[in-house]
Amino acid sequence: GVVVGRRVRSRRKWGRVLRILKEFEEGCDTPVGRLKQVVDAVAVEMHAGLASEGGSKLRMLLTFVDNLPSGKEKGTYYALDLGGTYFRVMRVQLGGQRSSILAHDVERYPIPEHLLTSSSEDLFDFIASVFKQFVERDENGSERSLGKRRDLGFTFSFPVKQTSVSSGILMKWTKGFVIEDMVGKEVGEYLQEALMKKGLNVRVAALVNDTVGTLALGHYHDADTVAAVIFGTGTNACYLERTDAIIKCQGLLTTSGGMVVNMEWGNFWSSHLPRTTYDVELDADSPNPNDQGFEKMISGMYLGEIVRRVIVRMSLESDIFGAVFSKLSTPFILRTPIMAALHEDNSPDLAEVARVLKDILEVPDAPMKVRKLLVNVCDVVTRRAARLAAAGIVGILKKIGRDGSGGITSGRSSRADTKMRRSVVAVEGGLYTNYSMFRNYLNESVVEILGEEVAQHVTLKVMDDGSGIGAALVAASNPSRDADGVQ
Ligand code: GLC
Repeated sequence: GVVVGRRVRSRRKWGRVLRILKEFEEGCDTPVGRLKQVVDAVAVEMHAGLASEGGSKLRMLLTFVDNLPSGKEKGTYYALDLGGTYFRVMRVQLGGQRSSILAHDVERYPIPEHLLTSSSEDLFDFIASVFKQFVERDENGSERSLGKRRDLGFTFSFPVKQTSVSSGILMKWTKGFVIEDMVGKEVGEYLQEALMKKGLNVRVAALVNDTVGTLALGHYHDADTVAAVIFGTGTNACYLERTDAIIKCQGLLTTSGGMVVNMEWGNFWSSHLPRTTYDVELDADSPNPNDQGFEKMISGMYLGEIVRRVIVRMSLESDIFGAVFSKLSTPFILRTPIMAALHEDNSPDLAEVARVLKDILEVPDAPMKVRKLLVNVCDVVTRRAARLAAAGIVGILKKIGRDGSGGITSGRSSRADTKMRRSVVAVEGGLYTNYSMFRNYLNESVVEILGEEVAQHVTLKVMDDGSGIGAALVAASNPSRDADGVQ
C-alpha cells in the first residue's frame, strides 16, 4: 500500500511538472504569423519614435554620426568599451585604406560587481586606472600619449541623448547598472575629467553606443552594411536613416543626408510579444521595472534567469529537484554562458547538464528525465528569444524598404519582381557568437519570416570587437586640429 501510494504521488508530481512545462511552452509560442505581427509593430514604432520625442517606447536617438567610416581613416587611436559584463580597452592602428586595420590590441577586465551600484566617481576612477595601466604597459604608447595628445573613442552602451558626436547625457541606466548621480549628466565630460586627473593626455573624440561602433566597423568593411545589432548582456540596434525621415528633428542637415539612429530597441514593447508570468515577475523584481521589456526576453543577462524561475516553479510543485533548493533560489545564479553549455550538451548521458545541476544549482544525482527537462526549458527560452530578435531585425529592414515587400505601391506583385539590394546587418555580442543554438534559431527565423528568395539578399555578419574598434573609427573621422591623427 505505502509503496504504491508513494509511486502514485510522485507520478502525480511529475505530471504537474509537465503541465508547467507545457503551459510555459504555449506561453512562449512564436509561430511565424505572430513574428510577422512583431515585425510590423517594430516598423510602426520606429516611425512613431522618429515622428516625435517620446512618441514611442523606441526612443530612436540621434547619434550625430552622419558619415560612416570611409576607409581612409589613419593613425593610432584608443577605445574604451563599457556597458556589458566586461570593460575593454584597446588600441587600434588604422592604415588609411579600407579594411586596413593594421593591428588592434584588446584587453578585457571583468567589471567589479560593486561598481554597478557605486558612484560615478568610483566607476570612472576604475576606467581611468585600467586605461592608464594599459597605456603604461605599452612603452611607445606611454611616451606618445603623455606627450602628444591622442584621440579616444568611448563606447558607452546605455541610452544617451547625444549633444554632439563626442558628448551626450545619460538618460537612464539599463542592464543592472544603478548609479543615480550620473543620470542626466554629461558622460563624455566625466570620462575626460577622470583621464585628466590621471595625467593622461587623451581627448574623448567620440562617444558612441556599442551598436553604433559595430555599424561603423561593419560599414568600414562592407559599404552595404545598413544596420547593426547587439546580442550580449543587453540587446539593441541602430541603423542608417535618411535625415528627412527624422521628422522630430526638422531642418537636420548632414552632408551625407543620413544619420545613424540608435533605436534602444531593448525597450520595445508590443501586445504581440509572447509574455509569461515568469517575465512579469522577473520584470517586477528588477531594478528597472516596466522598462526594457524586449531586452528582458532576449538578452544574455536574462535568459538564464528566466530558466531559473521556471525551474523554481517546478520545484515548488514537486520534489524532482530535491527538497533543498537553496542555490536554485538565488537570483541570476544560472548565467547564460552556463545555460548555453548545458543546452548544447551532446553527450549521451547529458554529463554537462548533470554537472551544472550538481555544482551550480546544488541538485545532485538528477535522473535523466530531469536533465532532459532542464534542457527543454533552456530550449524554449532561447528559441523564443532568438525568434523575437529575428523579428526585430526584419522590422528594421521593413522600415528601410529592404524586406522585399517593395514598399506600399507594389501591391500584390510577386516579391521576385522587386529588385533587391544586398543588405548587410553587422552583429556583435557573446549571445550570438558563443551560443550556437541562439544563433541558429535566429538565422533560421530570418529566413522563415522573409522567405528564402528575399533572405538571400540579407547577410548577418559578425563584427568581433566591433563596438570598440568602431568607436576608434568614429574618433578617427572626428579629428581635432592638434591631435596626432589623420591630418
Ligand atoms: C542596453 C543599452 C543599450 C545597449 C544594449 C546592448 O539595451 O540600453 O544602449 O546598446 O544594452 O549593449
